[in-house]
Amino acid sequence: MSVLIKNGRIVTATDDYEADIFIQGETISMIGKNLTMNADTVIDASGKLVFPGGIDPHVHLEMPFMGTFSSDTHETGTRAALFGGTTTVIDFVLQKQGHSLKEALAEWNSRAKGTAVGDYSFHMAVTDFNEDSKAEIKGMVENEGITSFKTFMAYKGALMIDDRQMIGLMQEVKKQGGMVTVHATNGDVIDYLTAKHRSEGKLSPRYHYLSQPEVTEAEASGRFADMADYTGCPGYIVHMTCEGALNAVRSATRRNQKVFVETCIQYLTLDASLYGDDFEGAKWVMSPPLREKKDQQTLWAGINQGLVQIVATDHCPFKWEQKLMGKDDFSKIPNGHPAIENRMELLYGEGVHKGKITLNKYVEVACTNPAKIFGMFPRKGTIAVGSDADIVIFDPNQTHTLSAKTHHMNVDYSAYEGWELTGKVKTVLLRGTVAIDDDKCLVDRGYGQFIKRNKVSGKI
Ligand code: URP
Ligand code: ZN
Ligand code: ZN
Repeated sequence: MSVLIKNGRIVTATDDYEADIFIQGETISMIGKNLTMNADTVIDASGKLVFPGGIDPHVHLEMPFMGTFSSDTHETGTRAALFGGTTTVIDFVLQKQGHSLKEALAEWNSRAKGTAVGDYSFHMAVTDFNEDSKAEIKGMVENEGITSFKTFMAYKGALMIDDRQMIGLMQEVKKQGGMVTVHATNGDVIDYLTAKHRSEGKLSPRYHYLSQPEVTEAEASGRFADMADYTGCPGYIVHMTCEGALNAVRSATRRNQKVFVETCIQYLTLDASLYGDDFEGAKWVMSPPLREKKDQQTLWAGINQGLVQIVATDHCPFKWEQKLMGKDDFSKIPNGHPAIENRMELLYGEGVHKGKITLNKYVEVACTNPAKIFGMFPRKGTIAVGSDADIVIFDPNQTHTLSAKTHHMNVDYSAYEGWELTGKVKTVLLRGTVAIDDDKCLVDRGYGQFIKRNKVSGKI
């Protein structure tokens, strides 16, 4: 099968030009002006932007967490991602304490294989680092194509590892050519503040936010950077929210250390004023919590300074009835919010359209850097001859309104209900096949492929 995309404005992380794209099978085979070859499908992209498919490297699909499961499966989550212009996601496999990494991978494979609609890969979350799990790291990298290892410095008593395990993991991961990624907040301090608030009868969602002050993230980010520097292991901080944490990374650059930073779309667009006195704030109970306006400013600036390389979502949706598990106690509200479908359009509308970032920066942080940092480039993340034909055709002028009534995520509320955005995804190709067109999904359950990733260098 072949596809010819005519007259579009192609935007990559570095270029911006008008040309046609010819696709044969799953890959881009030619880019040029006025291409005239016959194709099975011809798409007129006049007046549209043509981006590489988005890559969201931080999603939790059907994840067992806080006594329930996140409500999007690999099928519904990757389909919703496609509707929003994200063609590849990286989900997290969670090792169970006392069990092997292999067992966890088998469990996630059984959920994702044959069900995912869009392409996906896995990070391996190491929650129990010991001699046995250490011995499994090499196989994950060499055989499974899983080259990033997630750690939690928080969720004490559940997912958290201590610094002894962190150092050991970093040494092994560095040896095997991988990267350690981290949820960097101080789990002991959060545990203390959570218990204190509960003992004082302070139980509303707002106390989730007040139990995770900025200092808990700044301290852990600095500690993680120091350990990564000491071991020489490539390091990546997920879902960074605040000025204090970004300053810790800024300090690390003074010793010429590169620590990659991901923020998420919600931390750029929403703030802690959403945590009022009623239960409504549960919609945005996530860890770390939303912060202040000054933090949003710091994060936008961090993107432009090259300190923040990726904008992800940390998509971890829970239906309202699941959120109600914590109606009498904020510490029982499942943490997470839905955004997998909204990231590309929110980042365009709030970032590019409002003049905060350039078009090239947009593609860099939403498509190209995730591919480069996580070992998928140039197969994914750009528009080039030989790359997978993962392409988004985007109308920069169309306005639309976000709503749970129209979204495709398996969750009964929108974190952005009623938001009016400029810029809309029109057509999405995944490996040369038109997957989304005119608000319809044209590929089936099982079309999504697992993407094995390459070793990483910690440099881009
Ligand atoms: O609240 C969040 N972020 N839920 C998902 C788990 C995590 O910490 O990333
Ligand atoms: Zn996290
Ligand atoms: Zn997460």
